[in-house]
Amino acid sequence: MPTLLDHLQKAVQGRSPLIYLYSPEENRLLDGVRALADTFPEALPVYVWSCVQGFSGLGSAGDTKAPVDALRAVLASDTRGIFVMRDLHPFLSEPDVIRALRECYYAFREDPDRMVVVMAPELVMPESLKKEIYLIEVLPPGDDQILAEILRVRESYGVAAFAEDVLDEMVLACKGMTVAEIGHVLHRISRTDLSVKDDILEEIFSEKEMIVKKSGYLEFTPPRWDIDGVGGMDNLKDWLRKRQAVFSRDAVASGVPIPKGLLLMGISGCGKSLGVKIISSLWNVPLFRLDMNLVFSGLYGSPEAAFHSALSTLEAVSPAILWIDEIENGLGMEEDKITIASHIFSAFLTWMQEKPPLVFVAATANRIHALPAEIIRKGRFDQVFFADLPNKKEREEIIRIHLQRNGGDPEDYDVEMLGLLMEDWNGAEIEQAIVSARVDAYSEGRSMVQKDVTRSSSLIVPLSTTMEDQIKGIRSWAFTRATPASKYGSKARTR
Ligand SMILES: Nc1ncnc2c1ncn2[C@@H]1O[C@H](COP(=O)(O)OP(=O)(O)OP(=O)(O)O)[C@@H](O)[C@H]1O
Ligand SMILES: [Mg+2]
Repeated sequence: MPTLLDHLQKAVQGRSPLIYLYSPEENRLLDGVRALADTFPEALPVYVWSCVQGFSGLGSAGDTKAPVDALRAVLASDTRGIFVMRDLHPFLSEPDVIRALRECYYAFREDPDRMVVVMAPELVMPESLKKEIYLIEVLPPGDDQILAEILRVRESYGVAAFAEDVLDEMVLACKGMTVAEIGHVLHRISRTDLSVKDDILEEIFSEKEMIVKKSGYLEFTPPRWDIDGVGGMDNLKDWLRKRQAVFSRDAVASGVPIPKGLLLMGISGCGKSLGVKIISSLWNVPLFRLDMNLVFSGLYGSPEAAFHSALSTLEAVSPAILWIDEIENGLGMEEDKITIASHIFSAFLTWMQEKPPLVFVAATANRIHALPAEIIRKGRFDQVFFADLPNKKEREEIIRIHLQRNGGDPEDYDVEMLGLLMEDWNGAEIEQAIVSARVDAYSEGRSMVQKDVTRSSSLIVPLSTTMEDQIKGIRSWAFTRATPASKYGSKARTR
């Protein structure tokens, strides 16, 4: 990847005397400009301007706080040098500022020793300067720079703060952050004496969470769900376990293909959302849920722009998992959203094809008939799983998990009997029966027992009864299009 200095040198080689550096990382940009100045046979002086302080060190130029006065002073002086204009972007709608920049361009075009560099955290490009300005979008720091920053902070604490074996993972976790953001989180980690790898990575993810929160429509989902808290779905779990190390720095460097994404479709309450939530803790990669309702709300500009910006934010903080829950609502074909949604949908498909490798997409879908065929086509997602109602063995696993979660010891219960009572129930219904049994027992001031669960079970009418036909429809649709999430198959499944 070309460095900032490479980009700047290209501009100089092409005799572009007007450069726009676009990034929030002012210090990093200034370092780059100074490095460029040093590459000249006789180092060029660097003069830095801001509207608060004017130009520093530019001789008897007088008060140069106003941008036009500053540029006039640059034009009038015969000093060689790089003239850096910090945060000039708000002034780029003023005709005299635009004219002054154009005059600098024509005056310095044949003079390789003088150039003006506009530095801004936002991109404001007046139509009339497009041809003259050489634009450099400075991407977040690369691996080497991240590692250098980590080592710099580590040294400043004088102790072996972050152990060698954590460094690689830290570099990967810090990707997409600015040097300043990396600095903040590392100081926090050093001050709080975090030394366990997972704690360190969690702290870095929490910094990323803040970055993403500023976008408004991406929601960080903490890595709180453990793979052991999911009953059944062994095919899905095996698939995820096999790819556990793929987002590590070693794997990325070795060029092993990185999975693009996963689509989990199936019957309501069968653990689709849960299946996505466990990926984050298993892979140690932060998970962000894209709230499509907010994207469509208009609160963040047009849905297309908001969607595009959500994808770019995520690219910037990758490695990351993008979770699109109920993709058929967001990207699909709801009546009133049809036109916008179809635009967004095609943008999404293109993005999926060319997306940065370190963003993994985890999508879930209920109304799978609504899914356009293109989304399931091979090559978009690595795997399409179908989550069916759990079979006997899986139901028992789920019952054990929820008994334990509610303070019970599965050994004290006849789990097999409960499993028979809950035939054709989904995981959410099993959970609901156990939770209400616990509440009933609590209200009577005692611990939950088998009788409470059998009683609460009798009050639940499962989805498999109320929606029998829909479930059949979903199954036969999924039969040829998806791999069962469960390894054992259920007697209820059509094959
Ligand atoms: N296989 C499972 N193991 C353990 N718990 C489960 C399982 N499936 C579902 N549950 C419980 O049911 C709850 C609801 O499941 P989840 O939200 O993942 O279902 P879903 O398939 O996404 O449903 P929906 O289509 O309604 O969004 C989970 O939070 C979990 O507590
Ligand atoms: Mg769900």
